[in-house]
Amino acid sequence: MVGIVGSGKPFIKSVRPRARRALPEARGAVKDRRLMTSPDTFQTFIPRGPLKGAIRVPGDKSISHRALMFAGLAVGESRITGLLEGEDVLATAGAIRAFGAQIARGQDGSWTVHGVGVGSLLEPKTALDMGNSGTSTRLLMGLVAAHAITATFVGDASLSGRPMKRVIDPLSQIGASIEASAGGTLPLMLRGAAPAVPITYRLPVASAQVKSAVLLAGLNTPGITRVIEPVPTRDHTERMLTGFGASLEVGEENGETIISIHGEADLRPMDVVVPGDPSSAAFFMVAATLVPGSDLTIMNVGLNPTRAGLLQVLRQMGADIEEVDRREVGGEPVADLRVRHAPLTGIDVDPALAPSMIDEFPVLFVAAALASGTTRTTGLEELRVKESDRLATMAAALTLAGARVEEQADGLIIHGSGGEPLPGTPQGASVATRLDHRIAMSMAVAGLASRNGVSVDDTRPINTSFPTFMGLLEEAAAA
Ligand code: S3P
Repeated sequence: MVGIVGSGKPFIKSVRPRARRALPEARGAVKDRRLMTSPDTFQTFIPRGPLKGAIRVPGDKSISHRALMFAGLAVGESRITGLLEGEDVLATAGAIRAFGAQIARGQDGSWTVHGVGVGSLLEPKTALDMGNSGTSTRLLMGLVAAHAITATFVGDASLSGRPMKRVIDPLSQIGASIEASAGGTLPLMLRGAAPAVPITYRLPVASAQVKSAVLLAGLNTPGITRVIEPVPTRDHTERMLTGFGASLEVGEENGETIISIHGEADLRPMDVVVPGDPSSAAFFMVAATLVPGSDLTIMNVGLNPTRAGLLQVLRQMGADIEEVDRREVGGEPVADLRVRHAPLTGIDVDPALAPSMIDEFPVLFVAAALASGTTRTTGLEELRVKESDRLATMAAALTLAGARVEEQADGLIIHGSGGEPLPGTPQGASVATRLDHRIAMSMAVAGLASRNGVSVDDTRPINTSFPTFMGLLEEAAAA
């Protein structure tokens, strides 16, 4: 049981304990995790004073998914260091194993993968349980779409409500046949095409998942598959596929990015070092900025420009975040971030930055709720189709905690408290997290910057992306 926040006494009250998902990898990994999130659901986060010392956030989720997938497609043994051992990534590992790859976790925490080779995926014997993970689902749909196999994808209540038409459309064009549930959602069955037809696909939404699904299909499609990206999104697929030996070109035409992949590809195994996840670091960046007296260093944070929007926006608002020892890890820019408490001022957030901080808006909304003045965000329709409707969920959560929030169709307007702690959730009430890990962690941060604490109905989804979150909070608060 992890006791967090609350002067000396454990701050967690728990009800409804639930069993952790019984993935074999999860069981293996859980054994040697020191700082696991408690399996309890309901928790109250109260102020604990400044956050100090140095912490290390876990591996990047996007990069971890891709490392397992590409290693599973290479012929031979790849080694992955720093893999995120969260439920989403473990769902990908389960699927890659079902396609015939061998995956093992070593005593030292590194993972080895013996891949099957592009074109040689086995047909999974049972449905692929994607849990909460949209990235696993959409990328793996792309992979199956160009192989002569059939796979069924299922997921939890959150994932089963998320739109899959955005991948069904291009994958149907390459010849795959897909039977989805009403509204184009999971459960769905996908029959791959072999050979698939190469396409040129202009992304109708700024989505790295859709881009990657098409590129993964292109790996086993004869000829050249092209994706046209009007707005740049995270480019981990392009970077890592090149490292695994795929023939991939990135060009520009009329201000749009064009990515071309040559199939059928042979991937060679490689060693991947996964940098720390900027989306996980975000919670600590905001927490240390908001809590007076904080001086916290977050080690080894990935700073790929396609992911670094929050850093830019927080600095525009007045945050004091220093990049120490900029370097490269696994082909990605990385630095240690030293974050000191600073007062924030509300701004109009440039909607063009949205793709580079798409997962960070829930915690930015918390920062805005404590700033001086008003913060306006626009162009965020995509937030409505994440693990939850993040505009509605955060508007309700922050309002319950005493913030002044106006929900618009495409963003939130937040009138900040001017640095005054938020009142917190009323006695007996708790924030609805709606199976969304980032809502739970964002409102945990809000609790640290509140007067009476913020109660969260269900913290278990935190395990999908950041199993060590609670332990690191405790570590930073105790330092
Ligand atoms: C991801 C892309 C983003 C992001 C998700 C991870 C990825 O989704 O929200 O958490 O790894 O490609 P979209 O591509 O739907 O924007």
